Amino acid sequence: MDNLIPAPVRLNDQGRCAFLLDRSTKITAQAGTESTERWLRSTLGAAFGLPLAPGREGAGHAIQLRLDPTLEPEGYRLSTTLDMGVVINGGSPAGVFWGAQTLRQLLGPDAFRSAPVSPGGKTVIPYTDIEDSPRFPWRGLMLDVSRHFLPKDDVLRYLDLLAAHKLNVFHFHLTDDQGWRVEIKRYPRLTEVGAWRDRTKYGHRASELWDETPHGGFYTQDDIREIVAYAAERHIRVVPEIDIPGHSQAAISAYPELGNTDVIDTTALSVWDTWGVNPNVLAPTDTTLRFFEGVFEEILDLFPADTSPFIHVGGDECPKDQWKESATAQARIAELGLAGEDELQSWFIRHFDTWLTARGRRLIGWDEILEGGLADGAAVSSWRGYAGGIAAAEAGHDVVMCPEQQVYLDHRQDGGPDEPMPIGYVRTLEDVYRFEPLPPGLSEAAARHVLGTQANVWTEVMQNRARVDYQVFPRLAAFAEVAWSRLPAPAERDFADFERRMATHYARLDALGVDYRPPGGPLPWQRRPGVLGRPIEGAPPNV
Ligand code: ACM
Repeated sequence: MDNLIPAPVRLNDQGRCAFLLDRSTKITAQAGTESTERWLRSTLGAAFGLPLAPGREGAGHAIQLRLDPTLEPEGYRLSTTLDMGVVINGGSPAGVFWGAQTLRQLLGPDAFRSAPVSPGGKTVIPYTDIEDSPRFPWRGLMLDVSRHFLPKDDVLRYLDLLAAHKLNVFHFHLTDDQGWRVEIKRYPRLTEVGAWRDRTKYGHRASELWDETPHGGFYTQDDIREIVAYAAERHIRVVPEIDIPGHSQAAISAYPELGNTDVIDTTALSVWDTWGVNPNVLAPTDTTLRFFEGVFEEILDLFPADTSPFIHVGGDECPKDQWKESATAQARIAELGLAGEDELQSWFIRHFDTWLTARGRRLIGWDEILEGGLADGAAVSSWRGYAGGIAAAEAGHDVVMCPEQQVYLDHRQDGGPDEPMPIGYVRTLEDVYRFEPLPPGLSEAAARHVLGTQANVWTEVMQNRARVDYQVFPRLAAFAEVAWSRLPAPAERDFADFERRMATHYARLDALGVDYRPPGGPLPWQRRPGVLGRPIEGAPPNV
């Protein structure tokens, strides 16, 4: 039983069988815990073919879901006793849900299947007493659905995979140069034009290969509402990202007036079909500001404040070459009395910070938004190492640590020749296990501004769900333990024990149908011989 991932704070394992899950087992759910009741019925009920009918409060032989406000908000206590059954007390409805995730792991890998594989078999929950709560309140995964579109069902499946690892933030990278993925009713061309490209670079941008199949797709507004509701049911917050003022070629190809029309012929642009940092950025005009206010109005409607308090505006990798050449941009700099193009970017971001704050939301952006000054209340995703996060946290801004050197899961996970389309640093399962979100030297006050951490998955070299699975797993399991469990300092972490627990976890992932990278390396169909990556030690992938 001692094979939980992420590891709990305290586990008392008495090793005796205590509780048999069977047709007579009920679920009793206190008011407020209904989402977990529904989830247990739909997952464990399906996996074991059991009704798990509603039971009377206080009756025995049940899975009992309760709230206990003395526990930490996302904390829980799970106890199995002979007379009562399984009791999950949570500090909040989310805590109860994380306790239910632990219960599923206690029931063995078959609990991760969608239908019973041994009908009539005995499903035993060992006697146990677990106390648990997360280290960080922000435990996230960013998924880039722009470079390669992931159909809605794959997104819902990823939310289930996050929940299974007690991760609670889904950062949804919805727009980029290579595709606009969310329906915006007032600007239909964003998806009519911006969601499709004729062909796609196959491999790193230096590769000479092209996939000549048109690629695209987008989520309708109802798809988005469904994704948001599905996440909320699993106590996952969604952070939508609309990337501005860089990474915007898909939007400009749909509405050429958004680009720097006095520098290039923006009507000639199409959705970008290759990778890298793109010079075609938004023009700093009133037209652009009003346009994106319109976009964000619909985004705020789709992503309600209770589950999406943060709105991500990107802000990364915005080359300033066109602004340097643009008379319009230079006039704006002069009119605003700005020192240069960096301050123009800052002005752009501040505009949306003010706009979002006035509507009760908080802006978050990549650490470039620090350049030229950051508005109060804005938060930072620190991706270019720890430095941006440290500077932001020391200045009193909230920070999410996601340094590319450690937790970019698009980077290859082994130095061998068989990794598919290998890019970036070698970051093994053990490297991720030894990732520490709080860098040494951070003051105590600044450390309190580190909300947590997230792993990021950019999909340039991931054409479909199987490729995403391969890059994400098993490393997301190690990442989840870093984000949830109170692990010792990196060098003192017991990776051998984590690997031991992974033996069971691989069986869970098998039951879930996850195409993870096996410990021995890629299977023949997971390799991509002859497709160029960029396996240069020490270099970021986009160089
Ligand atoms: C990033 O990786 N450009 C945030």
